Amino acid sequence: MEQIDWSNLGFGYMKTDCNVRCNYSDGKWGELEVHESEYLSLHMAATSLHYGQESFEGLKAFRGKDGKIRIFRMKDNALRMQDSSAGTMMAVLPTEVFEEAVLKAVKLNERFVPPYESGASLYIRPVLFGISPEVGVKPATEYMFIIFVMPVGPYFKGGFQTTPFVIMREYDRSAPLGMGKFKVGGNYAASLVAGERAHKLGYSNIFYLDAKEKKYIDECGAANFFGIKDNAYITPKSTSILPSITNRSLMTLAEDFGMKVEQRHIPVEELATFEEAGACGTAAVISPIERIDDFDENKSYIFSHDGKPGVICEKLYNKLRGIQYGDEPDTHGWVTVI
Ligand code: PLP
Ligand code: COI
Repeated sequence: MEQIDWSNLGFGYMKTDCNVRCNYSDGKWGELEVHESEYLSLHMAATSLHYGQESFEGLKAFRGKDGKIRIFRMKDNALRMQDSSAGTMMAVLPTEVFEEAVLKAVKLNERFVPPYESGASLYIRPVLFGISPEVGVKPATEYMFIIFVMPVGPYFKGGFQTTPFVIMREYDRSAPLGMGKFKVGGNYAASLVAGERAHKLGYSNIFYLDAKEKKYIDECGAANFFGIKDNAYITPKSTSILPSITNRSLMTLAEDFGMKVEQRHIPVEELATFEEAGACGTAAVISPIERIDDFDENKSYIFSHDGKPGVICEKLYNKLRGIQYGDEPDTHGWVTVI
């Protein structure tokens, strides 16, 4: 096998041994299939290409000290993909089929699950999309579901380190009653221009404010936001952000730590009162925030002066990673051990 430098992996595509697929036609899902090819043959009028009938997911598998592989909260990803399917009028994949496909893809690519010591993990990417041709705007009658996997390191350079973020009011990612709550490709296309601009200016990513009033913190790049103050974990309540499974896990862990958890509107100015702040997601895990620059108001909200993550961010990060790698007991039943 090609030599993989497990400890220096970034977050990028890597070919692994195989992917798992399942097709929907004549009103039903077929059997799981295993493919070695990374390519597929697709009708040029497929609804996914023209009208964005597509959704994807992201979850991870971890190798523990005991050598066992643990998959984190896969049922929640199955349920979220069902919501995304309903939101785009795609065929809904049953939870059991999703879970069976995840287990199959991980087991068949087991040699790509990074060793415990590397701190890396196996990223699992399910994707579901319309494949039958339509030129009028209507849903497809046929769908394809694929899962591929790849070993990954940290999403943001440097891993668990503080980085700067930026607020820019001239971009929106999603509308209050739009698609932001679903994990569909169009939301990411909508974020590319703003994301690239933020990267060029030296930021990890951009913060979106609520599109209607531009008053409240919505979401940052491909991650949810949380702030910490007075022993409380505070995170936006919004109809235009993705319900993050990592964020939900952190809210539960914060409660376990005896913290107060608040899910509510966060006015931009309230940033000045937070002791710590972070971005969270499967890929980002917790990305502690050094500062948020308000580009339009020429203002900075600073959360770390020494480049180090805050103590609560660190405690949450260690607990979450501990559960994922099997170093801490899985008291909430989040982990599937293979
Ligand atoms: N928000 C967006 C826009 C995302 O793409 C992601 C990544 O999945 C998240 C939040 C975090 O969600 P999760 O913790 O379920 O990965
Ligand atoms: C994730 O955290 O799983 C994501 O989907 C982020 C991303 C790479 C889009």
